[in-house]
Amino acid sequence: MLRIGIIGAGAVVQGAHVKAFLGRTDVAVSGIADPCEAFRSRVGAALGCDRLHGDYRSLLEDRSIDALDICLPHFMHEAVVLDAFSAGKDVILEKPIALDLGQADRMIAAAAKAGRKFYVALNERFWPAHRKLKEMIEDGGLGKPFLATAQLIGDELRRMNDPESWKGDWAKAGGGALIDTGTHIVDLMLWWFGRPRTVSCQWGRFVVEAPGKADDNVVVTLGYDGMLANIVVSYACASDPWREDKQVYFRDASAHVTMDCDAPLRLCRGKEAMRPVETEAMASWWEGSVAAGVNHFLDCLQGKDRPAYGPEASRDTLEVILLAYRAAGEGRTLPLPARPHGFPGARHGAVDDESPNDP
Ligand SMILES: NC(=O)c1ccc[n+]([C@@H]2O[C@H](COP(=O)([O-])OP(=O)(O)OC[C@H]3O[C@@H](n4cnc5c(N)ncnc54)[C@H](O)[C@@H]3O)[C@@H](O)[C@H]2O)c1
Repeated sequence: MLRIGIIGAGAVVQGAHVKAFLGRTDVAVSGIADPCEAFRSRVGAALGCDRLHGDYRSLLEDRSIDALDICLPHFMHEAVVLDAFSAGKDVILEKPIALDLGQADRMIAAAAKAGRKFYVALNERFWPAHRKLKEMIEDGGLGKPFLATAQLIGDELRRMNDPESWKGDWAKAGGGALIDTGTHIVDLMLWWFGRPRTVSCQWGRFVVEAPGKADDNVVVTLGYDGMLANIVVSYACASDPWREDKQVYFRDASAHVTMDCDAPLRLCRGKEAMRPVETEAMASWWEGSVAAGVNHFLDCLQGKDRPAYGPEASRDTLEVILLAYRAAGEGRTLPLPARPHGFPGARHGAVDDESPNDP
């Protein structure tokens, strides 16, 4: 039996991680830490766990706990993850990996030094339509893509407008819509197409009124050899249900991903009408994909599976996001440097650490 402690029992745990743990008979949640009494009690009640703590250090000291599921505001990721490795625990961490590359590198190095497993949950990689589209891109049967577009239109206005909330706070979140939910889309682009050569970006804070908050709307363009990828993210659309769409265009075909679960992936060849592409069923794209990601890493913690990717993937994604913010600040397109020499690569034994798309 794998024994897990949960650190941070907020929105993502209540909304989706709980679903993963409830489906496991080989995993026991043996402790929950959150200074918010109501949140730790709610998650404890849902999971049948009565070992509830206000201070996460109690979980580090609990020798019966093997691994930690860390779901904290971004500015806390590095310190708590490093504490976890020092205490001999493996870690599943919610995205994004960190606020900056120095933090990411220190966490990756600490995991290797302590011989601990370190997984960063990037749930959109576990949505079947996204996996299928990756297979189709890599298979090459559709030819070479020349354009990708992606939109993620959401509403985080309540937390973005709350001056007390870490959401959208530059110091606590590292930015707004882009680093928070935009992480998902940037990560998909890197997963599907590899590292871009250039990054440009414009962002604005048009709707959120709380002072000091970061972007509520952002447009990022990634430049590849022979391809552009355009990403549009909003956290300010109160009148539109949360919506994601992606399109990839090839010379004689196009692939379309929507959140319509009846036909999440559709393909158009030549002038033919769009037709659905069969994908594994997943009832709810968000809860389902988050739970699938957590389940994958619970399997990896038990040696039942190999990690689909290592933490370096989320470091790459963060690098592009930070470069996008910089490009917006400087008002110009910036080149993405090559990965540093000696980049850890396959150290974590991940299946696609050596992506064929990497230059
Ligand atoms: N994959 C997804 O789709 C998705 C969705 C939402 C959030 N997230 C990520 O999950 C993480 C958490 O986001 P959230 O929206 O759940 O945030 P949240 O603010 O709702 O939850 C964070 C929780 O951490 C708790 N906390 C604060 N300090 C703590 C401490 N010292 N010890 C233990 N707990 C502490 C807070 O009380 C809060 O309950 C972030 O990294 C975020 O980007 C991912």
